[in-house]
Amino acid sequence: METRILPAQAPETIPTAAEILRAGGLVALPTETVYGLGANGLDEHAVAKIFLAKGRPQDNPLILHVAAPEQIDQLCHSVPEAAYALAKAFWPGPLTMVLPARAFIPRATTAGLPTVALRCPDNAVTREIIRQAGVPVAAPSANLSGKPSTTTAAHVYADHNGRIDAIVDGGPCRVGVESTIVDLTESRPRLLRPGGVTPEQLTAVLGDLTVDKAVTAQIDKDAVVKAPGMKYRHYAPQAPVTIVAGEREQAAAFIRRNFVPGDRVLCFQEELPLYAGCAPLAYGSEADAATLSAGLFAALRELDDPAVHQIYARCPVGGGIAYAVQNRLKKAAAFRIVNPEESP
Ligand code: TXA
Ligand code: MG
Repeated sequence: METRILPAQAPETIPTAAEILRAGGLVALPTETVYGLGANGLDEHAVAKIFLAKGRPQDNPLILHVAAPEQIDQLCHSVPEAAYALAKAFWPGPLTMVLPARAFIPRATTAGLPTVALRCPDNAVTREIIRQAGVPVAAPSANLSGKPSTTTAAHVYADHNGRIDAIVDGGPCRVGVESTIVDLTESRPRLLRPGGVTPEQLTAVLGDLTVDKAVTAQIDKDAVVKAPGMKYRHYAPQAPVTIVAGEREQAAAFIRRNFVPGDRVLCFQEELPLYAGCAPLAYGSEADAATLSAGLFAALRELDDPAVHQIYARCPVGGGIAYAVQNRLKKAAAFRIVNPEESP
């Protein structure tokens, strides 16, 4: 199959992409977080193609993307007030809500769960494609399963050329990490994945938020978890990633001591001068965590190269969007973190 590239601004892009979706095909769509691999979320055969193209485990459910908040009640039942409050505050935007699913949503989409994840993305072209398709669009991050997410059309092309119908090229994604996921099906709202909407912003609207253990620790692959996707190795280049924590100079001294040719250093812009000769790659500025979230996956993909043996990574601290960056980097590192103050 030839994969068509459809520039977001071209006049025929929206109707063409909508038609491919209605016909049961696969279209990669730009969003403010990452590129998604979209299909008609109500067509189990179309949804099956997503799992096949990505090599995604069947027990990992998909997010349904909607064009407007009104679709919450069409797709979900027993919707709590908190869902409307969150939609009003953050949609369109990088927030996914898990709610009780109506029975007509295929098992292929929900992976057999009684719940479904919903999101209204902050990309006007993609919302109009969804609206013209006339169906909710199931879309996981468009990367091959296990690999770093796709934040440009070129990333999607590299992973799926010849395997999907089209890619809508909307340029690089602004946020760069996937949406925040909140489960609203229990008595207390639960953060399943941090993202562009920060824990602080959620708490301001909800007044309450518990953080799922999958956010902060490695989950056993046989564990029963709220967000099945959180237990798989994720966002990972081929080489092992080790986070080197601690203060800048001390971390640099540790990395320089342990560095051997074939290793790479993933660091902050501000740290580049400390790593001359250590093949550093900066993914953003420590002083502006939004640049780190925007640059993380492109950097991890660049380091996903058989010639790279080991990656030392510097990770931001603190809340806000930095919290989501920490989560992705720790998962990429399988929670391997060294603190030079404690290790030689
Ligand atoms: O920003 C995003 O959310 C991107 C863009 C394309 O919208 N999509 C995305 O999808 O990140 P994906 O499939 O890579 O991640 C979806 C996560 C997985 O961890 C999955 O297990 C979880 O959402 N999920 C989906 N449905 C769920 C449900 N009913 N209950 C709990 N977790 C769910
Ligand atoms: Mg993903």
